[in-house]
Amino acid sequence: MELLKASDLVKGYGNTNAVNGINFHIEEGRCVSLLGPNGAGKTTTLKMLSGLLEPTSGSIDFKGEKAKDLRPFIGYLPQYPAFYNWMSGKEFLVFAGQLAKLNRKEAEKRSEELLERMGLANAKKRKIRGYSGGMKQRLGLAQALIHRPELLILDEPVSALDPLGRREVLDMMREIKKETTILFSTHVLHDAEEISDSILIMHAGEIAISGSLRSVMEEYRQPILQIEFEAPAADWLKSIASYSFVSEVNIQGNKTSIVLKDMVNGKQTLLKDIVERKLPVRKFEISQTTLEDLFMRVVKS
Ligand SMILES: Nc1ncnc2c1ncn2[C@@H]1O[C@H](COP(=O)(O)OP(=O)(O)OP(=O)(O)O)[C@@H](O)[C@H]1O
Ligand SMILES: [Mg+2]
Repeated sequence: MELLKASDLVKGYGNTNAVNGINFHIEEGRCVSLLGPNGAGKTTTLKMLSGLLEPTSGSIDFKGEKAKDLRPFIGYLPQYPAFYNWMSGKEFLVFAGQLAKLNRKEAEKRSEELLERMGLANAKKRKIRGYSGGMKQRLGLAQALIHRPELLILDEPVSALDPLGRREVLDMMREIKKETTILFSTHVLHDAEEISDSILIMHAGEIAISGSLRSVMEEYRQPILQIEFEAPAADWLKSIASYSFVSEVNIQGNKTSIVLKDMVNGKQTLLKDIVERKLPVRKFEISQTTLEDLFMRVVKS
C-alpha cells in the first residue's frame, strides 16, 4: 500500500528553489534512503514531509488522502537534534511522549519499553550530557518512535557518528524497519546499500533516480575493469579510449578503472594488448559499477 505520496513538491527561498518540483511515493513497510550531496535539498524535503516547513507549492498525500496535520503519524529525528542535556534519558522521553499527546502513564510505559529496546535501560537515569554520540542518536530514535508513528523520518541519522556509533544506530534501524516504514537521508552510500530497499537520489532540488535498490542497480550497472600497474602506462591508457567497447577511463596514479560496454570483447582485447606490450600489471580485476559510481555520475552531470 502507498503510505505517502509527494506531488510536484516545491520549496523556494527567494529566487531559488531548494526543492524544485519533486514526485515520489513511499510504500508501506519499505525502508527508503534519500541520497544526495550537501545542499541537494534532503533536509528541506524531509522537513516538508514532517510538517515543519510549509511547501511553496505541491501536495503530500498520506494513505491516499490530502495530508493536513501529519504529526500523529510521523516520527522525526532532525539532522542536528537538540537535547536538554540536564535531563536524564528517561525524563527526556517522558517529556517527548507528553508533547506527542500521550498521557503521563502511557508516556512512562512507552519510555521504559523504548529505553529497553534501544539498549539504554542502564543509562536511563543518567544525564544526557554524559551520553556518547551513539547513545544520543539512539535516544533520538526512541523520541521519534514514542507515539508509535507509521512513518519514521530520519535526517542523516548516522553521519555524525564514529564507526562504533554508526554500527549501533544502523543495527537499531534494521530492527525498527521490521515494523515501521522508514525514510532516511544520508550521503553515505554504503549505509543506503546496507539497509534500504529503495533509493531516491536527489541532486540540486530534483530527484534524479528512484526505484528499488535492486532495479536501480540492475538498470545502471556497467561492467568495469580495474587495473593496477607497477609503473605508469599513460601512453597505452590514452590509446584505449578509441576502442569502441570502452566507455570511460579513469586514471588515479597507478590505478585505472575502465568502464566497458562489452566485457567479453573488452577483456580479451585489453589483456592481449597488455601481454604484447609487456605492461607491468600488478592487479587485473573484473567488477561492476557500484552505487557510488552511479551517485558520482548523477552529481557530476
Ligand atoms: N532557510 C533557508 N533559507 C535559504 N536557503 C536555504 C534555507 N534552508 C536551506 N536553504 C538552501 O536550500 C538548499 C538545500 O538545503 P538542504 O539543507 O535541504 O540540503 P541537504 O541536502 O539537506 O544538505 P546537507 O547534506 O548539507 O544536509 C541549499 O542550497 C541551502 O542553502
Ligand atoms: Mg541536510
